[in-house]
Amino acid sequence: MRELTAEQIQENYDTLINTIQLYVTGDRKDKVIKMHDDMKDRFMMAPASAKEHYHNAIYGGYVDHILRVVDLSLKIKELWGENGCKIDFTDEELVFSAIHHDLGKVGDLEHDYYIPQDNEWRRKNMGEIFTHNPKCEYMSVTDRAFFLLQHYNVPISQKEFIGIRLTDGMYEEANKSYYVAYKTEFQLRSAIQYVLHQADMMASQIENRLTKDSLEKEETEVQERIQNIQEAVGNTENTKEEKPKITNDLFEELFGEKK
Ligand SMILES: [Fe+2]
Repeated sequence: MRELTAEQIQENYDTLINTIQLYVTGDRKDKVIKMHDDMKDRFMMAPASAKEHYHNAIYGGYVDHILRVVDLSLKIKELWGENGCKIDFTDEELVFSAIHHDLGKVGDLEHDYYIPQDNEWRRKNMGEIFTHNPKCEYMSVTDRAFFLLQHYNVPISQKEFIGIRLTDGMYEEANKSYYVAYKTEFQLRSAIQYVLHQADMMASQIENRLTKDSLEKEETEVQERIQNIQEAVGNTENTKEEKPKITNDLFEELFGEKK
């Protein structure tokens, strides 16, 4: 199972705070940092999703995902610009939106949004590493992001509102009226939400694949160990006259440590 070390989790959180320091300006910088500091442990440990087959359903997965979205947003913005799109939003607006697009996944003011799934069957058979905390009153993740930002008196620009609101693209049904416009004047005016959506989708897919790769690697290692054991046992059967000899290597395969 893919996981982040304590050092990586700490380093990611420090990078997130440094990113806020670098990109967020004015009075709201201190407010954004206060929000993170107030819930520091929860920010650091929050996963980015509940299920193994979604993305970053690991401790520290939220901040890891946010940093990936920030990085990809800046790169994807460059691509749009190089290809003739007028970039009518600032890097601060882009990075601020990327940082907060999943803020609601941290939970409300008191409770985590995700808690460990303690039902072993659901963990094993449905890949539910985490589950939703029943103590949190229902809000969409995006609505909770806006709730938390207003609680900390963090003002946002119109482009940031549209960017955060629409990062999920058409995966969120409620976004349809924004993305599908039947009148010219209703069409989205900036590209900020497209950049954010592409960055979010790319980050999620990469995280999903990192998890799959690590699971496949583990499976291969288990198969190799089983094969080694079978071969060793087979060798002893071939020499029935001799007393079966369990080597140190075989002992390690079976019990995980040398005797
Ligand atoms: Fe996201």
